[in-house]
Amino acid sequence: MKVLGIETSCDETSASIVENGITKSNVISSQAIHNIFGGVVPEVASRIHIQIISQVVSEALQKAGAKIQELDGIAVTNRPGLIGSLIVGINYAKGLALRYNLPIVPIDHIEGHIYSGFLEGIPLEFPFVTLVVSGGHTTLYYVRSFVDYEILGATRDDAAGEAFDKIGKLLGLGYPAGPIIDKLAKTGNANKFSFPRGLINSNDFDFSFSGLKTSVRYFIQKNYKNPQEIEKDLPDICASVQEAIVEVLTVKSFRAMESTNASTLVIAGGVSANSRLRELAMLEAEGRGLQLVVPRLQYCMDNAAMIALLGEVKLKNTPKELFYNYLFNANPTPIRAKLD
Ligand code: KG4
Ligand code: ZN
Repeated sequence: MKVLGIETSCDETSASIVENGITKSNVISSQAIHNIFGGVVPEVASRIHIQIISQVVSEALQKAGAKIQELDGIAVTNRPGLIGSLIVGINYAKGLALRYNLPIVPIDHIEGHIYSGFLEGIPLEFPFVTLVVSGGHTTLYYVRSFVDYEILGATRDDAAGEAFDKIGKLLGLGYPAGPIIDKLAKTGNANKFSFPRGLINSNDFDFSFSGLKTSVRYFIQKNYKNPQEIEKDLPDICASVQEAIVEVLTVKSFRAMESTNASTLVIAGGVSANSRLRELAMLEAEGRGLQLVVPRLQYCMDNAAMIALLGEVKLKNTPKELFYNYLFNANPTPIRAKLD
């Protein structure tokens, strides 16, 4: 089976061909223009999706050496995300599907991240725990099968990526600040400053990062009267902030592993690119004899391969006729629980 995946839920325009669980191409075009605004501007995002989606889909087909006529179906992200951005991908998929008489599978973007561990082609057995950690989500899932998973815990306020970005802004760094903080932290001392680890001892799997953000704001106000003075301490501040975020993510994830008896942890979403998170999670996993799967960056960030992969699984396990109903719409809200 050969499936085209289309992902346009935020500021990445992506298309991918997956054939029998193997990624043949995964083209991702990131919209760098938002960096100058310090965040994603929804109207700008949808306009750029419109401009480049044809080209991105053509490139995905070409790189995979595939023709549209050979496709068995199209999978497209229909929720959650920016409504205008979602509509572009969905309508493009519907147009192609009508023209070539193909089934369309609407895919939940977060479910794409949850199952993205399968994109690495390494053995991955259910049940497992997935931490989806990005600019919009910080959620722990217990995953029993391709159709059965539950939320163990989630952030009560900011997502971890949002915390990196907002704290970066306080520190005068560019957007998105996550990769910049990661880089600066490499030459800093993570024990130099002590920042709060929100909810680290709570009896659940929830997260909270807004206290950390406030604490960094007060720390800056108290210690640096002149913004230029902060420059020399940036590596230490970044290392200390990063350690606070990454420690909570790791501790809670492995506590979830213990409580569910799972032996595999998958970490996905943009923040899983963080080098210290990868290092700390790997140390923990090795120490406990558990499997850790952190997909390559192209499968961690927003990408269409995860959408195509899940689309193929659904096409293989559901009567195809059900996917000839093109009446589904874009939905900006996430599915909170499986049966939501
Ligand atoms: O999944 P993603 O590409 O899209 C959204 O959720 O929008 O994640 C983007 C987030 C941003 O908040 C960015 O700062 C963060 O992932 N991020 C990182 C790193 N690379 C990206 N955070 C920490 N360390 C990194 N190396
Ligand atoms: Zn995402």
